[in-house]
Amino acid sequence: MTNYDTLADEALSAIAEAGDLATLDALRPNILGKKAPISSAKSGLGNLDADQRKAAGQAINTARQSIEAAFNERRAGLAATARAAALETERLDLTEFQGVGTTGHLHLVTQARDRLEDVFVGMGYTIAEGPEVETAWYNFEALNIPEWHPARGSFDTIFVNLGEPEEVMLRSHTSPVQIRTMEAQEPPIYIVAPGRTFRTDTADATHLPAFNQIEGLVIDKGITMGDLAGTIDTFVRAFFGEEVKSRLRPSYFPFTEPSAEFDISRADGSWLELGGCGMVHPNVLRNCGIDPDVWQGFAFGFGIDRLAVMRYQLDDMRELVNNDVRFLRQF
Ligand code: PHE
Repeated sequence: MTNYDTLADEALSAIAEAGDLATLDALRPNILGKKAPISSAKSGLGNLDADQRKAAGQAINTARQSIEAAFNERRAGLAATARAAALETERLDLTEFQGVGTTGHLHLVTQARDRLEDVFVGMGYTIAEGPEVETAWYNFEALNIPEWHPARGSFDTIFVNLGEPEEVMLRSHTSPVQIRTMEAQEPPIYIVAPGRTFRTDTADATHLPAFNQIEGLVIDKGITMGDLAGTIDTFVRAFFGEEVKSRLRPSYFPFTEPSAEFDISRADGSWLELGGCGMVHPNVLRNCGIDPDVWQGFAFGFGIDRLAVMRYQLDDMRELVNNDVRFLRQF
């Protein structure tokens, strides 16, 4: 029976000697695992007679318990030491920031979004929202982009592995909020929907895979392309300044007809593309239970991050998400 005590002694001194978590954990199979001496001793019990077996079995259990207790205690101690060391190396000396003017403020994309919202609320619009994870119906189908439509490919959609293949996705634009709004409320509708959108783009100077858009939707009686052009012009002046002009160029989107891209003028006389727009396609109205013979409307959408890049003349869109305080402090 003495050899069982020895078994525990050896394990206990090995535990005491382990100087760090990795060494201790590496020890575990040898002292407590299936092949550990304490376990093999147990399998040897069958050779003993009943009385001896009982006593030996108890001795082995006691030995195992003392090894386990010592192991757990040592492990807790070493873990606490490791954590304290990690905390020390990761410590931030906050007194370094004192007097550097580090009161927090809103991120410049948030500032841009807030200002956009203000401009549109000032024009009588309300703010609408929708989910970031969408179904094919809202992101595509209801927007007149059936499954076979080549435009689906152009959205570089990030799909979520849920339900049927390509059925659930991170929204690739804010246009699904048009559908959700028209489903939920009767016209007349005047909304803007800002929010995060996602595409498979690799981040570079002019793209981010997670970016922000703002969508506008107007549904009312007798709405024309002239109202769309006037609205964009009013918003561009309010946001960029009275001297900035806007123009529409013919384009194509499945959910608007006619469709256009809109540009704003730069100081040097050149034009810069800002977003897409057009008259809401009758199929889209019908998909939402709205009679296109009674109601008409326009929609527009553009990137808020791009807008911030333009407004603050940033060299690289990735600065927006790098979280470098030296950059962020400037805005
Ligand atoms: N959803 C379009 C895009 O992301 C932009 C758009 C919105 C175009 C509304 C027309 C009308 O490219």
